Amino acid sequence: MYSFISASAAGLAHTQEFARRYLTLTGEFTSLSHIEKSKVQEILNDDRDGLFAAQVEKIQAKLKDPEIGIAAVDIPTGIMDNAAADTLCACLAATAISSAIAEPTENERNATPFTLYNASQKNEDKLKEAGLKFYSPEERLGFHTDGQLRPEGVFVPDFISVYNVMIAYRQPGSFYYLPFELWREREEFREAFGVNQDVRFSLTPIVYAGQNGEIESSDGRVIKAPVFWSDGTKERVFFNGEVDVGSKVHIQLSRDMSRSLLDNPERIACPIRNRRLFIMSNSRGFHARDVFSDPIKGVPYTRSFIRFVSRAAQQVKKSEIDRRYAQPMLETAPV
Ligand SMILES: [Fe+2]
Repeated sequence: MYSFISASAAGLAHTQEFARRYLTLTGEFTSLSHIEKSKVQEILNDDRDGLFAAQVEKIQAKLKDPEIGIAAVDIPTGIMDNAAADTLCACLAATAISSAIAEPTENERNATPFTLYNASQKNEDKLKEAGLKFYSPEERLGFHTDGQLRPEGVFVPDFISVYNVMIAYRQPGSFYYLPFELWREREEFREAFGVNQDVRFSLTPIVYAGQNGEIESSDGRVIKAPVFWSDGTKERVFFNGEVDVGSKVHIQLSRDMSRSLLDNPERIACPIRNRRLFIMSNSRGFHARDVFSDPIKGVPYTRSFIRFVSRAAQQVKKSEIDRRYAQPMLETAPV
C-alpha cells in the first residue's frame, strides 16, 4: 500500500518578500552562486514575520513522524516576471526552507549551501564514450540512504533535501521514501548483517556535470562501513553503493535487502515535479525514485537539481581511507 503525500505550497507573497530582502542584502543576485549560506541565515534569523514559519512547522511535524519522515513543498511560479530571475528566486526559497529545517553543509567550491547537478544528453554521451559507469536520470535508483565521506570517516547526514529546478521528462515518475518503521523485514536483516559489522561497499559513482560542465565522479572507491550502526541509543543505516566486493554472504544479503526494500508493501510516494522540494530524514528511512521517461527533446539539460546535506550527521565509521586520497565532503549517491 503506497501512501501518497501531497506537497504543500509555499506562499507567493512570502516567497516574494524573502527574495526582496535577499536582493536588498546582497545587491547582486543574478546567479545561483550568489546564494550564500550566511546571508540566507541572516534573513532567517531576523525574520520576525515568520515568512516560512507555518511551512516549516508542517514540515517538521512530518519529519518527526516515524511513519512519514518526508515532506514536499511546491515553490510557486511568478515570484518575478522575468523567467530566469523567477527560477533563481525559487531556488532561494528552497534554500531558505531547507536551511530553516537543518543547517546545510557548505559546498566547498563556491560557498553555496547546496550542490548543483546538471545532466544533459551531451555530457552523458561524453561519459559513455569514455566508458564510465555512470548515473543518468534514466537509470533507476533503488532504496538507499545517503552517505557523506569526510576525512574523519563515513557519515550518515541527518537530513537531505532535493529541489528539482528543471526536469525535461514528460514522465518523471515518483519519489519514494520508506521509513525504517514501516520496513517489515528490518529485524531479520539487522540480525543477518549484525550491528556495527563492517561491509565493503563500492561507492555509487556520482557522475554528473557540475556548474561549469566539469565531470564529477566518485567512481572506483571502496569503503568499509556497517549497514546497521548503533551506539546503544541511536540507530543508523548506511546503505549506499554496491556490495559487490568482499564477502559472498554480504553480497547476497545486500541483494536480498534491496529486494526486500522494493517489495515492502508500504512506502510513501510523491510525484516528482519541477519546482518541488523534497525534504527527508536520512536517519530514519531510505529513499528511491522511478526511472524518468519520455524525455523532452532539444533542451540543453535533461535535469537540473540542487541538493542540500545537513551538517548534522552521525559518524558510523572512522576513516580507513588513505588521507592522501581522501576527498573531504564527498557526497554519495544523489537522487
Ligand atoms: Fe540519495
